Amino acid sequence: MKIIKVRNYEEMSDIAAEYVTTLIKEKPDTVLGLATGSTPIGLYKRLIKDHNENKTSYENIKTFNLDEYIGLDKNNSQSYHYFMHEHLFKNININKKNIYIPNGFAKDINKECIEYNEKLKNNVIHLQILGIGSNGHIGFNEPGTSFSSEVHVVKLDENTRKANSRFFNQINEVPTYSITMGIKNIMEAKQIILLASGNQKANAIYDTIHGEVTENVPASILRTHPNIIVIVDEEASSLV
Ligand code: PGA
Repeated sequence: MKIIKVRNYEEMSDIAAEYVTTLIKEKPDTVLGLATGSTPIGLYKRLIKDHNENKTSYENIKTFNLDEYIGLDKNNSQSYHYFMHEHLFKNININKKNIYIPNGFAKDINKECIEYNEKLKNNVIHLQILGIGSNGHIGFNEPGTSFSSEVHVVKLDENTRKANSRFFNQINEVPTYSITMGIKNIMEAKQIILLASGNQKANAIYDTIHGEVTENVPASILRTHPNIIVIVDEEASSLV
């Protein structure tokens, strides 16, 4: 586990963007695993800026997102489809057919899980971008999720719904279920970059780096990954 401590969110995003753009330039058909939430927005802004200024091409890039709420259609402004379109995809030259996000509005959610899992099996993710929840979740894999989990349906932890309610008008609008890559899927990525900023992540980062490897802290399994970089700002790493 390589740990890079930086001053703040801006530096965290700069370094993450440097890793991603370097990889894409070296390997134009990179398969990226992508995350939503506040954490990667700075990274995505930098990728767009670099695309505009340096013409880094996404033409042959494939992307797989970690998760999606169940019950929100793609055009709902709270869906992760919408988030990704707004914060990244509409601003780069990615081919729409190379974008994969679980469909939380599928009629048969179990079938959707099986099919998304199949797609992941057929595509090795070269670089997975991850955020972390204040309870140590990765994707929507809440504490207690099996390390051997694959794509599955999750009932969201109340803390997670509360944390995510900042994006909604009120908490009862936050969906109760989501579909997420499992921990096993995440661990199959060739390389992982975990990003964390802010003091609300300090306990989760401490537990991830120094605590026991336990299903009670989903991110703790990342310590066993052979190629993981953790980029943390001063507040997130204040207990480390
Ligand atoms: P955040 O969420 O980036 O909005 O803090 C991260 C997560 O819950 O995984």
